Amino acid sequence: MEEKLARRRRVVLVPAPAQGHITPMMQLAKALHLKGFSITVAQTKFNYLNPSNDLSEFQFVTIPENLPVSDLRNLGPGRFLIKLANECYVSFKELLGQLLANEEEEIACVIYDEFMYFVEVAVKEFKLRNVIFSTTSATAFVCRFVMCKLYAKDGLAQLKEGGGREEELVPELYPIRYKDLPSSVFASVECSVELFKNTCYKGTASSVIINTVSCLEISSLEWLRQELDIPVYPIGPLHMAVSAPSTSLLEENESCIEWLNKQKPSSVIYISLGSFTMVETKEVLEMAYGLVSSNQHFLWVIRPGSINGSEISEEELLKKMVITDRGYIVKWAPQKQVLAHSAVGAFWSHCGWNSTLESLGEGVPMICRPFTTDQKGNARYLECVWKVGIQVEGKLERGAVEKAVKRLMVDEEGEEMKRRALSLKEKLKDSVLAQGSSHNSLDDFIKTL
Ligand code: UDX
Repeated sequence: MEEKLARRRRVVLVPAPAQGHITPMMQLAKALHLKGFSITVAQTKFNYLNPSNDLSEFQFVTIPENLPVSDLRNLGPGRFLIKLANECYVSFKELLGQLLANEEEEIACVIYDEFMYFVEVAVKEFKLRNVIFSTTSATAFVCRFVMCKLYAKDGLAQLKEGGGREEELVPELYPIRYKDLPSSVFASVECSVELFKNTCYKGTASSVIINTVSCLEISSLEWLRQELDIPVYPIGPLHMAVSAPSTSLLEENESCIEWLNKQKPSSVIYISLGSFTMVETKEVLEMAYGLVSSNQHFLWVIRPGSINGSEISEEELLKKMVITDRGYIVKWAPQKQVLAHSAVGAFWSHCGWNSTLESLGEGVPMICRPFTTDQKGNARYLECVWKVGIQVEGKLERGAVEKAVKRLMVDEEGEEMKRRALSLKEKLKDSVLAQGSSHNSLDDFIKTL
């Protein structure tokens, strides 16, 4: 017995291979490590996080699979994740068996990203505790359930028929409309539902932890507790709870901070569309024209390869179009630092969940231009529930861009949103302090281990 107690407690974490999923998983790793757990991160070769010096306190292991590297790009996220799961059911079980052979350590639990659902099957065989980690919002989790239920009922006719029904509100899910459900631009409704049936299946999971905060999503959290009938712990925003090492897959260009240092307080709109959004050349140009005529300063992240149909490089394209000293363009920014900078007054975002939490955590109001999946629901909440964002819908035209930027950066309406965003920032800060809701929730979760 004494010998058993002396064994170290290890947590195995399985992130999904995408920037927006790796970052919160590593923040969770840091939080658990601070509580005394040893950490093993099991990842595939896709978007492989290099265990640099900053992450050397964690053990990294590779889940073997034989998929071609091009699958990540060619299949689109939905089909890719289904294929990856099929490939990893067996190999993950073998890997876990090897980890269990280390008798000096005990595996306290395996925590897997909701999209790495193959993990549950292996963990069940070894009778280990397993926990689902949702790196997206609680509302996104609810919406995935609802999509599966609606599909079973009538094939999600609202999304398929056209004729305007996609504009209707989904019953009991205000303010989500059918078109805000997390369908994907990369996959058919059938493919999304196939994926979501797996991500929503709790199997033998003992609990779900979510990178969210009670005060943001109380009703969605309640919905999940009833539906899943296991504990649901909102423990976010993790980036505010722990100071984790950088987990950026692309190199961050720090020069934009020097540029921000030269700008007036709240005078810059920061533009970033996340780690995989693609935009059409035409849309980028409309954005550029609209921004220039708004007369506001802007810092714009243009990720390499993110503009469809452009024959010249993104940077050249923009430099050609945006002849102004009011703008600064980088390929990838240190986003959290940018949002914390006093010169930044607003964030034009695709509304990925990490970007949303990072913006709310700094009290920065948003212009919401979601691209796909959960981003649509996040944008709705930003505009209609938290009232700290303006959503720009439909075909993007320079006039609409100029108007949205001015509403947020110049008009009284923007001032009000800023005040609300600052008040939310305080609530989020409180939630991760001792006795705060997320702080307590993380402690409660850890007690179960
Ligand atoms: C997608 C989904 O839309 C999101 O909701 C889900 O939770 C993860 O996958 P993604 O495009 O990766 O999101 O966006 P987001 O969740 O916002 O994550 C992007 C991350 O990249 C953020 O942590 C952001 O700080 C970081 N980033 C982005 C940078 O560090 N620099 C940049 O220039 C842009």
